Amino acid sequence: MNDGSAYGRKPQHPNRHLTDVGPGTPCGELLRRYWHPIAESRNVKDLPLRVRVLGEDLVLFRDRAGNAGLLYPRCMHRGTTLYYGRVEERGIRCCYHGWLFDVEGRCLEQPCEPDGGRHRDSVRQPWYPVEERYGLVFAYLGPPAKKPVLPRYDNLENIGADEEYWTTVGGFGSTGDASLAVAPYSWLHMNDNVMDPFHVHVLHSTLSGIQFHEQFALLPKVDFFYADHGVCYSAVRQLGDGQEVDRVSSWLMPNIMSVPDIQMRPGQSLGIAWSVPVDDSHFVMGMVMKVPRGAARFELRLSGKTWGEMTEEEHQRIPGDYEAQAGQGPISLHSEEHLGTSDRGIMMQRRLIEKQIELVAQGGDPVGAFFDPEAALVRIRSGNFYRGTRSP
Ligand code: FES
Ligand SMILES: [Fe+2]
Repeated sequence: MNDGSAYGRKPQHPNRHLTDVGPGTPCGELLRRYWHPIAESRNVKDLPLRVRVLGEDLVLFRDRAGNAGLLYPRCMHRGTTLYYGRVEERGIRCCYHGWLFDVEGRCLEQPCEPDGGRHRDSVRQPWYPVEERYGLVFAYLGPPAKKPVLPRYDNLENIGADEEYWTTVGGFGSTGDASLAVAPYSWLHMNDNVMDPFHVHVLHSTLSGIQFHEQFALLPKVDFFYADHGVCYSAVRQLGDGQEVDRVSSWLMPNIMSVPDIQMRPGQSLGIAWSVPVDDSHFVMGMVMKVPRGAARFELRLSGKTWGEMTEEEHQRIPGDYEAQAGQGPISLHSEEHLGTSDRGIMMQRRLIEKQIELVAQGGDPVGAFFDPEAALVRIRSGNFYRGTRSP
């Protein structure tokens, strides 16, 4: 008889089909068909940065002519890391024997070889393309022939003279502060979280107290729907006196989200975020938001403290996104999940990802990868939309 005893329970496992991100894995190959933010432009200077993304270790730098470059770090000569290389006008020079590589891996000089290296054109340091937009550096780690256009987002375009882009590439999205550079769990935890309006009602409102806005304590009427190349939800809350607010949030293939303002200010969402896998069990949030010029950098405070300032007891008594998601383990055990009606958005997301994995495996192009620059302007549906006359 099954009385629920923990004794003798079956071993459980993650859905590796969705969580593995390395080269050659099904989801890894899907993720490699899109651009991912890997750094803030302002941080990419003449000192090389270590970047780990989709399970690959790389080195990122900006040559003195201003071009960002992303190279495989092991120098093709005898394998020391370009992390200790010297950045110059035309590229990065390996510290060991001075081979000079440009941002696309061309070897421009081999100073110890006759004539500066007679065969240097026949070798190339492995490299990936990067592009910069909205204050972020985006990388494409996929097959060169399948490189899509870097998309634009309508809510980030047409920045006013009194506005600027607020950017971050770090743990911010899960902790609300800058105390954690890399979140120590799978990108899929955060990806699931974005199509989960019900945790906003419990975790952020009724269980841990009001973390964002008191409206979230009202249980919304939720509708999930496929839109564009992702999944959206509409969460409608009755505010009394015939007034209601429709909070629309969107997730776009494969790891992109636009979450509306958590202070419930009205209007279209002003930001876009990416849950970028570092490897199978770590990710970083890349975020960009349009903000008034000179605005203070936002930090979430729970009972007056940032996440990094909270004690262990406070993390237990007033948990937030980080605690709930890290609590699922480095990679969740999907075989023991019991998904319910409220998880419909997550099921829709996972189904769409699975379909695109299949498509890529068969040689097709996944949705949300654009090859026509005209089509690469993405309309963002997210926002807090009030109906009625009462102001929020
Ligand atoms: S190891 Fe880089 S130049 Fe020799
Ligand atoms: Fe949350």
